[in-house]
Amino acid sequence: MAFPLPLLGLLSLSLFLTTNAFATSGIRHGIIRKLSPPNVSIFREAPAFRNGETCGSQPIDRIHIAMTLDVNYLRGTMAAVLSILQHSTCPENVEFHFLWARYEPDVLASIKSTFPYLHFNVYRFDSNRVRDKISKSIRQALDQPLNYARIYLADILPPHVKRIIYLDSDLVVVDDIRNLWEVDLEGKVVAAPDYCHANFTKYFTDLFWSDKKLSSTFSGRKPCYFNTGVMVVDVEEWQQGEYTQKLEEWMVVQKQKRIYHLGSLPPFLLVFGGNIKSIDHRWNQHGLGGDNLEGRCRSLHPGPISLLHWSGKGKPWLRLDSRKPCVVDHLWAPYDLYRSSLQLLEIAYNVIPCVVKG
Ligand SMILES: *[C@@H]1O[C@H](CO)[C@@H](O)[C@H](O)[C@H]1NC(C)=O
Ligand SMILES: *[C@@H]1O[C@H](CO)[C@@H](O)[C@H](O)[C@H]1NC(C)=O
Repeated sequence: MAFPLPLLGLLSLSLFLTTNAFATSGIRHGIIRKLSPPNVSIFREAPAFRNGETCGSQPIDRIHIAMTLDVNYLRGTMAAVLSILQHSTCPENVEFHFLWARYEPDVLASIKSTFPYLHFNVYRFDSNRVRDKISKSIRQALDQPLNYARIYLADILPPHVKRIIYLDSDLVVVDDIRNLWEVDLEGKVVAAPDYCHANFTKYFTDLFWSDKKLSSTFSGRKPCYFNTGVMVVDVEEWQQGEYTQKLEEWMVVQKQKRIYHLGSLPPFLLVFGGNIKSIDHRWNQHGLGGDNLEGRCRSLHPGPISLLHWSGKGKPWLRLDSRKPCVVDHLWAPYDLYRSSLQLLEIAYNVIPCVVKG
């Protein structure tokens, strides 16, 4: 039996059940109670992960990770967080910085109840900063303002965060994140795996390449493709170099002349291509979601893997739910904290009679 309720439906279901339960008991006892956050989470609670003996406890030992928070990707976020904690030698030293565009109290309550011991902060990303700079790409999901939040990290994060790992929400880490955190940036602003064998030409339009003034931005460097879903960023260097403004300038150009087809990625290629600290490909086994149009199944590239990334149209949780998963989706499944609709209804039916009786 399956109850294919959409995620949003389930979130409101959990809130509805709790609200009703409290209202009922309130009336019965004639007591006015304050509503607590919903107890029936649609996610299971993750275990507590503790630091190993070698871990320091000073601010300098902290590992800062930024991710966006969006109700549509929440299941992916939960899996990513769990995977990071589970493979960390020092999980208590990992601090998350979540950016959201729209306040969703249920999402925050879900994070708190799923990871009661998590160190995290949330920040509002003002979508108005990019709204008039976004141009339509080949995939609607890429045009969400929150996709552009990574451009504004250096403005949003508190001043004590000098280095940040930015991660997309459709990935799992299967190695100690500290190995990525400790990468030597060698004076560069951004570190990421780059791919110099990929055909770089295709990321920009003919109009771009035929415009000498625009394409001369690459003169003197050999640009290579890199994926912006996994980046280590030197926040101070970013601020000093005013990279947010540099990226925005290209978005303005794109608005006037169409110079690329993808969303937030090409501005990064324009500004940083050929000038990043290249790190091992194991840190972004990307493209597991298939292409941008159909999301066909893809197999793994050879070599060691520290991070699996379902970039592309297909998302493992959707493909698993559809009962037509790709082989690689089974590597994501162990990190899924989502309760099936069936489990959720079982809990719901146990909660209501118990409260009404009491
Ligand atoms: C909800 O959780 C709170 C705190 O954990 C607890 O005190 C309360 O009894 C719970 N309510 C229900 C209905 O389970
Ligand atoms: C790279 O892509 C461009 C544009 O799609 C194409 O014209 C060119 O032939 C490609 N180059 C190689 C080496 O495949």
